[in-house]
Amino acid sequence: MPAIAVSGLTKTFRTYRKQPGFSGAIRGLIRRTYEQVIAVNEVSFIIEPGELVGFLGPNGAGKTTTLKMLAGLLYPSGGQARVLGYVPWERHNDYRRQFALVLGQKNQLWWDLPARESLELNARIYGIPADRFTRTVAEMSELLNVREKLNVSVRELSLGERMKMELIASLLHQPKILLLDEPTIGLDVVSQKIVREFLRRYNATHQTTILLTSHYMTDIQELCRRVIIIDHGRIFFDGQLSDVVDRFADFKLITIHCDDTEVALTDQLARHGEVVEKTPGSIKLKIKRDRVIPACKALLDDLPVRDIDIEEVPIEDVIRQIFAR
Ligand SMILES: Nc1ncnc2c1ncn2[C@@H]1O[C@H](COP(=O)(O)OP(=O)(O)OP(=O)(O)O)[C@@H](O)[C@H]1O
Ligand SMILES: [Mg+2]
Repeated sequence: MPAIAVSGLTKTFRTYRKQPGFSGAIRGLIRRTYEQVIAVNEVSFIIEPGELVGFLGPNGAGKTTTLKMLAGLLYPSGGQARVLGYVPWERHNDYRRQFALVLGQKNQLWWDLPARESLELNARIYGIPADRFTRTVAEMSELLNVREKLNVSVRELSLGERMKMELIASLLHQPKILLLDEPTIGLDVVSQKIVREFLRRYNATHQTTILLTSHYMTDIQELCRRVIIIDHGRIFFDGQLSDVVDRFADFKLITIHCDDTEVALTDQLARHGEVVEKTPGSIKLKIKRDRVIPACKALLDDLPVRDIDIEEVPIEDVIRQIFAR
């Protein structure tokens, strides 16, 4: 049985649209005009147990809405989903014990309590035995480097420290499914790395199925082999991250090393592609994929080239290019 199976999942929101200006406001009092937003549009995918999948898409693409449906927080307008065999929005108690949803933008801990007590409350709710609680918290707070912060009230924790506590809280009951919505948002690079390492390790040792959204490509690149890309509520790509470059990168980057990189030379090079970087002694060009071979030939013939590098466009740029479409 797949861990998560989603088929034709759809969510439309009806929002009230304000008319512009004063007269519009008056008209709005009499007859409200509503607008339908299709946040998630016939989305289908299957995730096997133990997979760690990146869920990517530009702002407003429908990621959070999808995760909320999988967590049973939102009712879909259409379609089906099974998580561990359960229909999430039926909010079966057995299901609630087996998944966790972490929203990076939202605090789920008790604000005024020391972190440890907030965790303890979570443990109580799930009926976790005291010894297991102590052991798990010690272990995870060590890995996440927040052991010294357990007695600080949640209100006084930094953003990163709070996120780490949220992660601990969400894992106390050892969920089989972990839905993570931007768990590294706003964290400094060191904390991001710690959280990433932690998730990678957790996924490997517990075989927890993880669906993760992030706008940081480093997260995705270091954690996920598979990505699902969603745009305007529709699945746009579902496959290996490495295939994204093959499928969508229209360009390659070519760096020419010359002893002489005068302006005149730049003009000559610009015929082949866009100059993206220039240093004394080297010029980097962005060249259309199907032009790479002829361009290299011409460059080697025409210029005193000392060395030449051909690279793929960084995946981050490819994704940005996809989102910009
Ligand atoms: N409660 C709501 N009422 C009305 N519209 C909503 C609601 N929640 C989300 N939407 C709309 O649904 C669409 C998808 O939103 P969603 O939050 O799922 O995007 P997202 O992919 O998580 O974006 P981001 O990367 O910015 O977090 C957006 O157009 C959003 O404005
Ligand atoms: Mg979101």
